[in-house]
Amino acid sequence: MLVDASTGDDAAVYRLADGRALVVTLDFFTPIVDDPYDFGRIAAANALSDVYAMGGRPLFALNLLSFPRGLLDEGLAEEIIRGGAEKAAEAGIPVLGGHSIDDAEPKYGMVAVGEVDPDAMLANDGAQVGDDLVLTKPLGMGIVATAVKAGKCPPGLLGEAVEWMARLNRGAAEAARAVGAHAATDVTGYGLTGHLGIMARASGVAARIDADRVPLLEGVEELVEAGFVPGGTRRNRADAAGRVTVEGDVSETVQVLLADAQTSGGLLIACPSARTGELLRELEVGGDGGVVVGTVGEGEAGHVVIAGKRGVKDLLLAPAARTDELAPPRKGHRHREPPTLG
Ligand code: CO
Ligand code: CO
Repeated sequence: MLVDASTGDDAAVYRLADGRALVVTLDFFTPIVDDPYDFGRIAAANALSDVYAMGGRPLFALNLLSFPRGLLDEGLAEEIIRGGAEKAAEAGIPVLGGHSIDDAEPKYGMVAVGEVDPDAMLANDGAQVGDDLVLTKPLGMGIVATAVKAGKCPPGLLGEAVEWMARLNRGAAEAARAVGAHAATDVTGYGLTGHLGIMARASGVAARIDADRVPLLEGVEELVEAGFVPGGTRRNRADAAGRVTVEGDVSETVQVLLADAQTSGGLLIACPSARTGELLRELEVGGDGGVVVGTVGEGEAGHVVIAGKRGVKDLLLAPAARTDELAPPRKGHRHREPPTLG
């Protein structure tokens, strides 16, 4: 056993031989969108994401399906499975079987089996002081899903959120591996602050998020202000008490979004700062894009500081160190010394 549940990691990792380890994970949930095909795509991308978040490559998947046979048209189940199969094909893997049961509520997901070179594994415990934190998808999926349930999500925002959720984290994982990232996790049910806290605790470090840099789905702030906040997101904020500190001016809305429970969120990558420019370029080439949303620093293990406007101003006044090591510096991205936290 190389990785079990003790570090809050994305998947179990089991060594087979020198240089080879199995990565195994499963994930399934109830529909978060009305369209069964989109639901299938999203659930599959989400299940495969935990293999990518370990720096692994998926090998094959198995379906898990609950479906109320007497209640709903079986064509809906076929559409869910079709969406999942299409995502698996995009990931370059077969779906080799699965299991379905009659259940009161539909649920779908996958067992995903992959492999990883243990030396290149992106476990949660590798983040180092001075690393940049790069996020590859915008936040707000939980808010959107809650507004969808109430029939109050603008169609454009829903379409945008669906495409992000259905997007594989494959390219992001390849980019992270290519630059020798120290750690990675995918942002899912515990939100950005929660998953960052888990990674930081496993690594024995603290972390800082620059609230103003974090990408959000366009229009999602209005939904928060209208009260569409899922129970999981509220729980995340309650659980964060004492472990997440806000410095400077960060609106209530943004604080909610930083804790928002995501479905099939992006990768959060701890990248040695000298390689961040390269990582951002790799992400762009792969069509993913990525944003530096914070840094890893010294401090109480697992402590997360959310820095608002005042915090960002402080950072920008600090000497822009190490920019010379980067070729070419990226627009809107500035390297800086890691702040000391705690
Ligand atoms: Co995960
Ligand atoms: Co998971």
